[in-house]
Amino acid sequence: MGMYNEKVMEHFTNPHNAGAMENPDAVGSYGSPVCGDMMEISLKIEDNVIVDAKFRTFGCGSAIASSSVATDMIKGKTLEEALALTNQNFVDELGGLPGAKIHCSVLSEQAIKLAIYNYAKEKGLVLEGLKDFDPNEEHDHE
Ligand code: FES
Repeated sequence: MGMYNEKVMEHFTNPHNAGAMENPDAVGSYGSPVCGDMMEISLKIEDNVIVDAKFRTFGCGSAIASSSVATDMIKGKTLEEALALTNQNFVDELGGLPGAKIHCSVLSEQAIKLAIYNYAKEKGLVLEGLKDFDPNEEHDHE
């Protein structure tokens, strides 16, 4: 398992915020066009702030580790702040992922963005960070 650093292994074996959420305010799920794996992110939102985040994934260890740090990082952030985070921020937080595994972190970014997109749509919110977001676009690498 020399491919993965200790932090990745730690988040993979002991992921934070894994599981289903009761009565989420927003849900986003994204399937990777690269490997077909799926990620679902659920959020609790109060006054435009993400107060809780959970994830479920049918994905590999890198996807699990990425979601673990991603859900940690978005908690306490405003919707705009969370939208500004990219998969690279999650990879950096993990101390890096092997090149062939970068796409796994994209699942976290896209699922978070979709959850916020769905929420904004439902509430009629206009968010600057969603200006160029296309919910049907496929992201195959970064
Ligand atoms: Fe599919 Fe990592 S290989 S998410």
